[in-house]
Amino acid sequence: MVNLLQASNLTISYKTADGEHKVLDNVSFFIGKGESVGLVGESGSGKTTLGLSVLRLLPSNAVYNAGSIRYNGSDLLAMDEKSISRVRGKDISVVFQDPLASLDPLFTVGYQIAESVTAHRPDIGKAGLEEIVESIMGDVGLPEPSRTKQLYPHELSGGMRQRVMIAIALVNNPSLLIADEPTTALDVTIQAQIMDLLKRAKQEYNLTILLITHDLGVAFELVDRLIIMYGGVIVEQGSKQEIFSRPYHPYTKALLMAIPELMDIAQHAPPRLSAIPGSVRAHYDDYEGCRFYDRCTYRTKECLDKEPDLTEYSPGHPARCIHPLL
Ligand SMILES: Nc1ncnc2c1ncn2[C@@H]1O[C@H](COP(=O)(O)OP(=O)(O)OP(=O)(O)O)[C@@H](O)[C@H]1O
Ligand SMILES: [Mg+2]
Repeated sequence: MVNLLQASNLTISYKTADGEHKVLDNVSFFIGKGESVGLVGESGSGKTTLGLSVLRLLPSNAVYNAGSIRYNGSDLLAMDEKSISRVRGKDISVVFQDPLASLDPLFTVGYQIAESVTAHRPDIGKAGLEEIVESIMGDVGLPEPSRTKQLYPHELSGGMRQRVMIAIALVNNPSLLIADEPTTALDVTIQAQIMDLLKRAKQEYNLTILLITHDLGVAFELVDRLIIMYGGVIVEQGSKQEIFSRPYHPYTKALLMAIPELMDIAQHAPPRLSAIPGSVRAHYDDYEGCRFYDRCTYRTKECLDKEPDLTEYSPGHPARCIHPLL
């Protein structure tokens, strides 16, 4: 498989009132063309930072300390502004958690979808543009496109607004879609519909998808491979089957145990619910050893000697733990 995206040694900090803190530490991963990859970890682990860094959409207090992000071979972090703006919304699109915050309340949704087209095809004629807008609206399941396109964001439900965001993201036929918690703000039934839409879009648009979520259960249906993050580092990655059937890292195992119905599918274990006690730290700047140590039931004093390396315990399935659950 050809790598569409390849991040190497990505390290990112935020400048804050009490100094500069690293929130991504030497993160390397790839996404193959046509693959769907889930980036999973709890709140504060650095998922959004990683997703936004790809298109250089991080806030101004973010510092790219090191690393590269290659898309089709070109380093997105080294591109000039003009080149990266050509990539945004054309080759790579992003969908966020909160469609209301991303849509402009003052313009109709049809206008905002059209804007995404004209940003990359300024010469397109009005008739052609209307046709493209209505066609994508139909594709993402927005009813009566010719009428709905004239509505303002507040006139649509949350699920419909997310469909508009997905229409904006897909209208230029991108290769890669980064979806950051696309269903977190929605009701459970609507969540399932949006995930179905992404699944369908993956097929019909030949999309490569990076799905960011704190919920392994949400990722399960859509993704081929999983990257598990904890405290700014990757702690495990591998195919969905591998991760679900034999997680190596105690953190991954704990995430799985929190989804009773999936534990049942994956390991035929009796359903049980277990939250992971404790929480991830804000940063690990002056920290040595395993970042999960405080919360780990398998810890020994050796875990604090140094940060464990990502070790490939089986092909394509590395974990950052010296006591893997083999
Ligand atoms: N603009 C910012 N300035 C300073 N610190 C930030 C900023 N944005 C995020 N952080 C910090 O960086 C770390 C990673 O945040 P990030 O939003 O990437 O995590 P996340 O995994 O997406 O979390 P969530 O699941 O809550 O969305 C957190 O400790 C967060 O507080
Ligand atoms: Mg986030």
